[in-house]
Amino acid sequence: MKWPDELIFMKNSRAVQKETHASMLGQLSVITGATSGVGLSAARVLAAAKSNLVMVCRNKEKALPIQAELMNTHGIQVDIVVADFSKFNEVKSAADQIMKTYPKIDVLINSVGIHSTRKLFNEDGIELCFAVNHLSTFLFTKLLMPKLIKDGKSRIIQINSEGHRFSGVKLKDINFKRRIYTGLKGYGQSKTAQLLTTIELVKQLKGSEVTINCCHPGAVKTAIGSNNGFLYRFFFKHVTSHFLKDPIISGKAIYYLAADPELDGISGRFFNLTIDEKPAKHATDESMSPKVYELSMNLVGLKDA
Ligand SMILES: NC(=O)c1ccc[n+]([C@@H]2O[C@H](COP(=O)([O-])OP(=O)(O)OC[C@H]3O[C@@H](n4cnc5c(N)ncnc54)[C@H](OP(=O)(O)O)[C@@H]3O)[C@@H](O)[C@H]2O)c1
Repeated sequence: MKWPDELIFMKNSRAVQKETHASMLGQLSVITGATSGVGLSAARVLAAAKSNLVMVCRNKEKALPIQAELMNTHGIQVDIVVADFSKFNEVKSAADQIMKTYPKIDVLINSVGIHSTRKLFNEDGIELCFAVNHLSTFLFTKLLMPKLIKDGKSRIIQINSEGHRFSGVKLKDINFKRRIYTGLKGYGQSKTAQLLTTIELVKQLKGSEVTINCCHPGAVKTAIGSNNGFLYRFFFKHVTSHFLKDPIISGKAIYYLAADPELDGISGRFFNLTIDEKPAKHATDESMSPKVYELSMNLVGLKDA
């Protein structure tokens, strides 16, 4: 049976996934959102492959026992860098600290993310999902990119989502002032913005040894959405959670994308776990990608040289 492009993600989510056994001994992986769910699973799997880690997280107390567990179990170095990704100044400080401290980053995994059924804003008045999932991750990546390019071979992995299919980017109303907000639209818009700006980052990385790919980490049981209201949490506990998988599948897929030699030089792809897939048309629209890039640069206060 030939699946239409729009639905092939359903087939891919049931596919046999690729695996790797590549050693990451001596490498350094920087992981945002490493204290929970997908990011934590990636941290555990990469630590088992002997990668040293930098956990970028907002809650040091939560990160400390994870740091101890990973260092004791795997004999690797794990550092903690604290940053709240709803605040651009904290993202900048974290990027600065990382650039000053580490001679080489081999893998950058952008896993930080939220899903909010309520319309919330960060302190700059930007819709929170857009700010945390897209803008802060964009800012963090842009700030680290010159170092990554200068230092040679590395891989950037954007933890995106099939949820990008729920919404495009409304350039003139990213803050939902003139339309009704829903959790799926806010989440979808943030993930589509990430896919569109990644198209531009791929162009900027051309000629370097740095690759950037996006990944849907599976439909997995994590803490995402646990800040939402009673109804959401009730439905999640009694219905949705029964269909979700263990985030170990996310960790293994990210390890494959981070370390397998098959991915050498591969850039600009969207992987459903480890399966190469086409994102929705609105997320591959090259007439939109420069506009979303420019908007993102303005909102985070960056200018290209
Ligand atoms: N779960 C799924 O089925 C699924 C599917 C598709 C895509 N994803 C994507 O996977 C990524 C990780 O989500 P998850 O499911 O693993 O959710 P999660 O368990 O809630 O983990 C989210 C991580 O992001 C951190 N975080 C949230 N807001 C932050 C902020 N303002 N500053 C700094 N860190 C912040 C959390 O920190 P705390 O530990 O301090 O809360 C946590 O470490 C997201 O990008 C999500 O969109 C997940």
